[in-house]
Amino acid sequence: MKQALATVIANEQIARGIFILRLEEPDQARDVKPGQFVHLRCGTSFDPLLRRPLSVLRTGANQRNCLPSSQYEVLYEVVGRGTDLLSHLRPGDLLDVLGPLGRPFQIDRATRHLLLVGGGVGIVPLVALAEEAIRHDLSVTLLCGFRTSARAFPSDRLPPEVEYVVVTDDGSAGHRGVVTELVHVYLAWADQVCACGPVPMLRALAALERPRHLPFSIAMEERMGCAMGVCLGCVVPTRHGLQRVCRDGPVFGLDEIRWT
Ligand SMILES: Cc1cc2nc3c(=O)[nH]c(=O)nc-3n(C[C@H](O)[C@H](O)[C@H](O)COP(=O)(O)OP(=O)(O)OC[C@H]3O[C@@H](n4cnc5c(N)ncnc54)[C@H](O)[C@@H]3O)c2cc1C
Ligand code: FES
Repeated sequence: MKQALATVIANEQIARGIFILRLEEPDQARDVKPGQFVHLRCGTSFDPLLRRPLSVLRTGANQRNCLPSSQYEVLYEVVGRGTDLLSHLRPGDLLDVLGPLGRPFQIDRATRHLLLVGGGVGIVPLVALAEEAIRHDLSVTLLCGFRTSARAFPSDRLPPEVEYVVVTDDGSAGHRGVVTELVHVYLAWADQVCACGPVPMLRALAALERPRHLPFSIAMEERMGCAMGVCLGCVVPTRHGLQRVCRDGPVFGLDEIRWT
């Protein structure tokens, strides 16, 4: 983990209010693992006071994409003051970034078929994980739900080997409905599942009938203060008591979390 001034290489709007920010910081690009996040100081003043956490989408260190090895990308949706400030960054600007932080996803040695399940911007750490899995010759299916086609993650930013199944609430792209309705179709095929998305989606996954020993991990999102395990602002109830999403997570076993 390092605090560094990363250089903005690009900040591209890929859909309304959704941006991909490409940063150059060689150590962070080299060290980040799928599921980890960076903590960004969005403004130059004390407003907002707190940094904002974003998962890493892709790193050039992975060699499964066209990024230079010294660069990595985050994807963010503009939802408030911090992300709005990020949307005004221009190439050449410097950004104070702490990271990489948190526990990454782990692909089991025995896994050959990896099922990824995302909801909205929850797709971000799963893209990084898909690239890593393809590099290790795994078969990867990525199911992801979005509100409409306009908010869907573009397929050309994924490795072509990934089977990408889009679900939209309004049926404007892919299957109509919610992503959790499709998961059971792939459960017999998968020997590991990883997911990230809004809490109602994760709760629905926890309630699904599934093979008892199927490894199933999730990346959680909580509002964060320090992101260093100190302030306890990000705790979630688990079977081992309260755990910090920033330090003990963001990746947890699906059944580790107490969903009630
Ligand atoms: C580990 C982690 C990884 C994340 N990765 C991504 C990512 O890859 N892309 C992305 O777009 N967002 C991601 N988020 C969420 C992102 O951090 C928030 O959207 C961002 O901090 C909002 O800052 P803001 O100042 O723009 O909005 P604020 O003004 O702080 O909040 C605006 C609205 O967003 C809600 N909100 C803020 N933070 C969160 C949160 N952590 N979880 C749920 N709702 C929140 C608030 O309740 C409020 O309604 C991640 C969060 C965590 C904890
Ligand atoms: S954000 Fe401070 S302990 Fe997690």
